[in-house]
Amino acid sequence: MANVILRPDWVLPESACTTKVAYTNRRKFIQALGLGSIGFAAMGGCSAESRGMVDGPLDKIPKNAPRDGFPAPRNESYQVPEREITERLVASSYNNFYEFINQGDLKNVWPLVDDYKPFPWTLEVRGQVAKRQTWDLEELIKSMPLEERVCRFRCVEAWSMTIPWTGFPLAKLIERCEPKSSASYVKFTCVSRPDQLPGQKRATWYPWPYFEALRMDEAMNELAFVAVGMYGEPLPKQNGSPLRLVLPWKYGYKGPKAVTRIEFTRRQPGTFWNELQPREYGFLSNVNPNIPHPRWTQASEKFLPSEGVERRIRTQIFNGYDEWVGHLYPDEPRTPSGPIVR
Ligand code: MTE
Repeated sequence: MANVILRPDWVLPESACTTKVAYTNRRKFIQALGLGSIGFAAMGGCSAESRGMVDGPLDKIPKNAPRDGFPAPRNESYQVPEREITERLVASSYNNFYEFINQGDLKNVWPLVDDYKPFPWTLEVRGQVAKRQTWDLEELIKSMPLEERVCRFRCVEAWSMTIPWTGFPLAKLIERCEPKSSASYVKFTCVSRPDQLPGQKRATWYPWPYFEALRMDEAMNELAFVAVGMYGEPLPKQNGSPLRLVLPWKYGYKGPKAVTRIEFTRRQPGTFWNELQPREYGFLSNVNPNIPHPRWTQASEKFLPSEGVERRIRTQIFNGYDEWVGHLYPDEPRTPSGPIVR
């Protein structure tokens, strides 16, 4: 039963949806998305102010996070002219980070992050590379020219935000890793610290640590970004401190948070959600309004600009980044199709 309560609705099998627990979760899910009559402002039954979180979520930037290069200059090639930037408080108080899940509202991650002390942090480079390396993250960040990019962010659960990220292109990091020509994929493994991450201790049915992977051509695309900050400051813990991937054309779950290892492989690696729910979550997971999730539509999304404000907007193929990445996916359905796992 505990397992069911702690699982996000989007990994529940459809067969479970008729049980009372699942019904309750479904209602919470619908409320959280603002799809029901109760909107985002009423999520959890109260406003941000009455939950005492007006400053709380923004206080979760590690005190010893490096700030060299902040705030970074904005790269004007990455803008989202048709939408406003999501309020910072919303982006840092409505999260998916299952390493922290506990009883209650799964999106309410920030109150659970205090024991997590990301720094010092090392990043390991392994697999099909000229040589294995282990970098100190602070040194790495200092050596990278930081920039800010404003990007659309689309979760598979059909909500979205617009976020200004600070970081550097993933391609730059990959070049430093010196992958061999045999490297066809790159796998990212996330933090494993059960003593600091309550979800890793409690939610034992997950295959910890979180892991994700990309094809090399996807990883080298200029849109693929390593974020070390957002809204002009280092990442708050709940947003993936000290570093995460931002892949704006893919569903949010393809962007691993708190990455500790990069590994280059010859064969396609597994991924966290695909291993858990292979009939619902595939390897590519590009944002595509033409491919419904087996349990809900992906044709539109609930855009969350600020607390208490939300609107339904149409989802764009590749989340509006067709020009950047469309050529990578000649088989991506361009007209409405049935639910397929890609
Ligand atoms: N990375 C790790 N390590 N653990 C996670 O649970 N959740 C993913 C992704 N990266 C996740 C993760 C999912 S499902 C989403 S939608 C995004 O992070 C959420 O990022 P946000 O909380 O900053 O919006």
